[in-house]
Formats: sequence, C-alpha cells, structure tokens
Amino acid sequence: MDHKTNLILPSLLASDWSKVGAEVQRAADAGAQWLHLDVMDGAFVDNISFGPQMVQVVRKCTEMYLDVHLMVHRADHYLERFIKAGANNITIHVEANYNTSVAETLKRIRAAGLHCGIALHPNTPFEAALPFVNDIDLLLVMTVVPGFGGQPFMEKETMPKLAAARDYRDAHGLKFNLEVDGGIYTNTAPIAKKHGANLFVCGTSSFGPPDMKQSMSDLAASVA
Ligand code: DX5
Ligand code: ZN
Repeated sequence: MDHKTNLILPSLLASDWSKVGAEVQRAADAGAQWLHLDVMDGAFVDNISFGPQMVQVVRKCTEMYLDVHLMVHRADHYLERFIKAGANNITIHVEANYNTSVAETLKRIRAAGLHCGIALHPNTPFEAALPFVNDIDLLLVMTVVPGFGGQPFMEKETMPKLAAARDYRDAHGLKFNLEVDGGIYTNTAPIAKKHGANLFVCGTSSFGPPDMKQSMSDLAASVA
C-alpha cells in the first residue's frame, strides 16, 4: 500500500456480468493487481449492484487484491459478510448512516486484518475526512456522483480537494493512498495524478475496449 505506487484498478461494475469469472481473468491477464468492486444498496446511492456473495465469487476466481467500495448505509451491519467474503480493502462513505460510527467501523475493518478507506462524494469537503486520516490506508476522492459507471470526470469540483488531501497528508507525515473513481480515462488520469492520486479506478476505460491488455497499458502509461 505504498502511496507512491501508481495502480490502475479495473472496476467490475463495467465488466460483462454474464461471464464474471472470465472477466476477472481478463483483468488479471491484462496486468491488473487490484480489482475494484462497487457495492450499492439502492438507498445510499440511487442504484443497486451486488453484495458480499459477488465478492465471494470473485475471491474464488482470483488472487488479485479486492478493493471493495461500499456505497451503502449501515456498512457496519454488513461488515462481517464482506470480511468473510474475502475483501482486502473496504472503503466506506463518510456521508452514510451507521448503527455505530465511521470510526468504529474503520477500527473493525483493521482489527480483521484488512486495509480500510474513507470515500468522499464530490460535494463533500476534504475536512469531513479529517477525523479519520490517521486511521485509514486510503482516501477515495469520488470524481463522479456515486451510483453509476460511465459518467463524466468532475474536474473542477474534485481536483482542488484531491490536492488539499495530498498536501495535508504530506505536511503531516501521513501515508494514506489517494484513489480516484469515476470518469478516469487516459486524458483525465494524468490530471488526477498531477493533483496527488496514485490509485486510479477505471471501469468503462479498462473493461470497455475489446483489448483490455491495451487499455490497461494505455492507462498505466498515462500516469507513468
Ligand atoms: C461509481 C463507481 C465507480 C464506477 C467507475 O459509483 O464507484 O467505480 O464503476 O465508473 P467509470 O470508470 O465507468 O466512470
Ligand atoms: Zn467505486
């Protein structure tokens, strides 16, 4: 989890779910080390995707690092199921509701031996993450409104926040990774990198093209 290493993270949401096993293999063969899994509950976001069972299915298909993005209310209620399913990192939204709290949920994720992250909606200021920055392995700065793939990159709303997070981290000797998610292509990834990102979630841009080896290498080259 070195925050200076750039990684392209294919987002399963953009894959062909009718052959999810083959799609996971396609991502691994294309050089992916991490896979991003978008869990949506239809309440925190206006879409429903998949739950812990899909994480379990993917876990059985690959050794890749599974980066689970919980766009759900009450992530603490469901947490054990995602831990058991084989997630490696679990990122929770600071804006969601919890039975306990964000801090308590982050603590439980780490206690289970996983990495943990905080995600910020484009409208949420970096300050909302401040209470947690000492206890996270990554900060996910959403570059689209959470809920759907294929949306345009929200540069002006999110890049100043990303740079502020990077500057705060570096000024305070912290080490969390900076992840961007949504609308990341070979033209927008370099902008995010310039503002501090090192983890780049790519759904449409990685799984979309027929030659994923090519799309992954183009994306990696755009942030090299
Ligand atoms: C959106 C998800 C993103 C999405 C990426 O709520 O968090 O991970 O799948 O979408 P693209 O890369 O297709 O813009
Ligand atoms: Zn995501």
